Amino acid sequence: MESFRALVLEKAGDGIRCGFRTIEPAALPPGEVLIEVTHSSLNYKDGLAVTGKGKIARSYPMVPGIDLAGVVRESESPAFAAGDPVLATGWGLGEIQFGGYAELARVPAEKLTPLPNGLDAPRAMALGTAGFTAVLAVQTLEEHGLRPGTGPILVTGATGGVGSLATHLLSKQGHEIVAVTGRTELTPFLEKLGASRILPRQELARTSKPLESEQWAGAVDTVGGEMLTTMLAQMKRAAGVACCGNARGPELHTTVFPFILRGVALLGIDSNWCPTERRVLLWQRLAADVDLDLLDSLTRTVPFSDIPEAAAQIVDGKLHGRTVIAVRDDTPHTAARKS
Ligand SMILES: NC(=O)c1ccc[n+]([C@@H]2O[C@H](COP(=O)([O-])OP(=O)(O)OC[C@H]3O[C@@H](n4cnc5c(N)ncnc54)[C@H](OP(=O)(O)O)[C@@H]3O)[C@@H](O)[C@H]2O)c1
Repeated sequence: MESFRALVLEKAGDGIRCGFRTIEPAALPPGEVLIEVTHSSLNYKDGLAVTGKGKIARSYPMVPGIDLAGVVRESESPAFAAGDPVLATGWGLGEIQFGGYAELARVPAEKLTPLPNGLDAPRAMALGTAGFTAVLAVQTLEEHGLRPGTGPILVTGATGGVGSLATHLLSKQGHEIVAVTGRTELTPFLEKLGASRILPRQELARTSKPLESEQWAGAVDTVGGEMLTTMLAQMKRAAGVACCGNARGPELHTTVFPFILRGVALLGIDSNWCPTERRVLLWQRLAADVDLDLLDSLTRTVPFSDIPEAAAQIVDGKLHGRTVIAVRDDTPHTAARKS
């Protein structure tokens, strides 16, 4: 088998170095399925890993990239055959085993999802972990009892990957979405996704009372910190908050009052280790529910060689929507993908 190109994180003295390398197939980890990776994506976590601003990899050398899509080249598993289109998100890819920023990946069969009908590899990666987290959050809120018509839903980090796709999915279900953003200049983008109202970030990024007036029938929070504290104080009775991320910070200082006086539920969302059965169903739901033209319009595609630059941009909060990595392409093409 041929050697292949990968982005690799390596230890260098006390720090971590990130660079493009040609690596031998023997360096691939164990796993029943060998995949020709055609596309990956860029998530906030990937930005942290590649820039070294967060400790994501648990060992070195490591190929980062928490998402991948491509075609099976060889399989020792009866569940997959050569030529099958597949995707994988999370499952410790890029953390405990080599991830998607490489032309080849070897992955255990139970970590793979068949590409659902209606999605090709670029669009699957336009969704990626962000889209999967968004649909997991929506599904979890619905299982908690969320129904359209019960009041506005708050989405924070609304211009980001998880936030933009959660806004789109919830508005398609008929919910009224209030999109919270630090970039009100992106109001037209958020309205196109289905947001009914835009709330500037400062409205939540403040000291709050233990309980404030009840406003929200549900929430998807991607930022954490005092913004999550404030929204908890404003949830309607028995409402759920899907806690997805910490773009603002990991700390949460609250009181028990939203929980014991209003029955508010803080619902943890973990896309990384979501079981295979639920994962496959949710990918089918994503493929059915997402408007593909809208998805294309919020996606830009960058060549493999641009990963370090794009990683710095996502960590600096300079991107919005989703970024797909064309793993086998080095030609710059930053326009939104057309069907
Ligand atoms: N639980 C899971 O399984 C899971 C899965 C995927 C991601 N995540 C987490 O979810 C978060 C979002 O991920 P993503 O991939 O969507 O990232 P992203 O595309 O970079 O979006 C993050 C958004 O958060 C907002 N933001 C950034 N810095 C902020 C700050 N200091 N204060 C308040 N808001 C800020 C920005 O939106 P505005 O400019 O619109 O305010 C930004 O677009 C990250 O913390 C990520 O690690 C968790």
